[in-house]
Amino acid sequence: MLNGNGKYHIITYGCQMNLHESEKLAGILSSRGFAPCNEPEDADIIVFNTCCIRENAEKRAEGNIGALKQLKKRNKNLIIAVGGCLTQQKGRAEALRDKFPFIDIIFGTHNLEEFGTLLDKKLSGNERLIEIREKEGAVRENTPKTRTSYPNAWVNITYGCNNFCSYCIVPYVRGRERSRSPEDILNEVRGLVAEGYKEITLLGQNVNSYGKDIPGADFPSLIRRISDIGGKFRLKFMTSHPKDFSEELVRAICDSDKACPSVHLPVQAGSDRVLALMNRKYTKEEYLDKLAVLREYIPHAAVTTDIMVGFPTETEDDFEETIDLVKKARFSGAFTFVYSKRKGTPAAEMQGQVPAAVSKKRIMRLIALQNSVNREYSKAYMGKTVEVLCEGYDAKRDKYLGRDIYGRMIYFTGTADLVGEFVQVKVTATGGISLMGELI
Ligand code: SAH
Ligand code: SF4
Ligand code: F3S
Repeated sequence: MLNGNGKYHIITYGCQMNLHESEKLAGILSSRGFAPCNEPEDADIIVFNTCCIRENAEKRAEGNIGALKQLKKRNKNLIIAVGGCLTQQKGRAEALRDKFPFIDIIFGTHNLEEFGTLLDKKLSGNERLIEIREKEGAVRENTPKTRTSYPNAWVNITYGCNNFCSYCIVPYVRGRERSRSPEDILNEVRGLVAEGYKEITLLGQNVNSYGKDIPGADFPSLIRRISDIGGKFRLKFMTSHPKDFSEELVRAICDSDKACPSVHLPVQAGSDRVLALMNRKYTKEEYLDKLAVLREYIPHAAVTTDIMVGFPTETEDDFEETIDLVKKARFSGAFTFVYSKRKGTPAAEMQGQVPAAVSKKRIMRLIALQNSVNREYSKAYMGKTVEVLCEGYDAKRDKYLGRDIYGRMIYFTGTADLVGEFVQVKVTATGGISLMGELI
């Protein structure tokens, strides 16, 4: 190899699930003796772990892959591998193979665990390897992992999705929902806590439907069993689908000294007509009722959400319903998106696609509204002392940072030994979302 230094570089797009899958790719590479590096120029192996949730995610990945053409010219031995949700889309692997002749390996979401075998083959020969598996396999355990998010550790509980929201590509690229066994999950969490991880985040497209394929298993019981593990750590999970968000789950969170009182509960829209077209299976009122139950048990619970504007046929009146819902729900944070047409999904075939300019206006209004709610929450923090799990150092601000149990980010002056520790921080200044504080 030209660099010959045995280094790899992984570029990840998309959600937490993908971040964790990149930790598995890193584990596979580490188990073969490769070490990570920060710059693609230094690497012998570059892996793209892609996303296709919206058009811009695809464009970004394709742009960055294309940009490697020159690097590959300079270093003929460089191995470029592309995997993830983008390559799993129908016909996409072949299109990428033809568009970028310098890609060496293409794999999908259903054969991610076989990346090592593909790499071994490539290292011992020269042929290009384009291997996509059409269907998902059974849950696989024991894939090596090189974790990169200490003090947090991601733990898969389900793979795939059965919900088929009409706009969403995920069920087509991640396959049907499969749950890991409670024992495998508990063993992994026990091991992580013993290793010193202070925050465990359970991952699934819809964590609330965990265990539907395993007799006797369900999500609230899983929360209770994980909470029984000794030691101090925070337990988080994402994503919760409102249709399956139950009072029993709220009770499990309430009873747990580990589960954070913060829930990510994507609402998507406020109009019942749009929610029905989206196939979300709840109404605005039902959603607000679930929030009310949560806040009845845990009055200060923080709720974050995802909201989409410009879904096909969305009118100004529909959008006003979203605005009204945001005012009522008082989210502590919202990820807002402009609807992006995904080929192969039912929504892509719907009449009445909303013009980009209209969506843009709507999203700006939505962001301004949510920002004002955020500022109010921030103001309420002023002068308070909160327990923060220190996550790391932000070079740009020259500050350490961490979050409280509600997921609110706080910056403070600290030292490297605090990373992974619970510290008491007094909030001394509040900006938009982030807070500044002092160690006490
Ligand atoms: N499983 C999770 C989230 C998956 S994708 C859930 O059910 O909520 C994360 C977010 O991306 C979604 O909540 C949605 O708001 C957004 N999203 C999904 N498909 C989209 C599309 N076609 N266009 C725009 N946003 C989309
Ligand atoms: Fe997509 Fe809906 Fe599944 Fe979430 S629940 S991944 S939005 S289909
Ligand atoms: Fe995640 Fe993107 Fe796939 S959001 S599941 S990486 S399409």
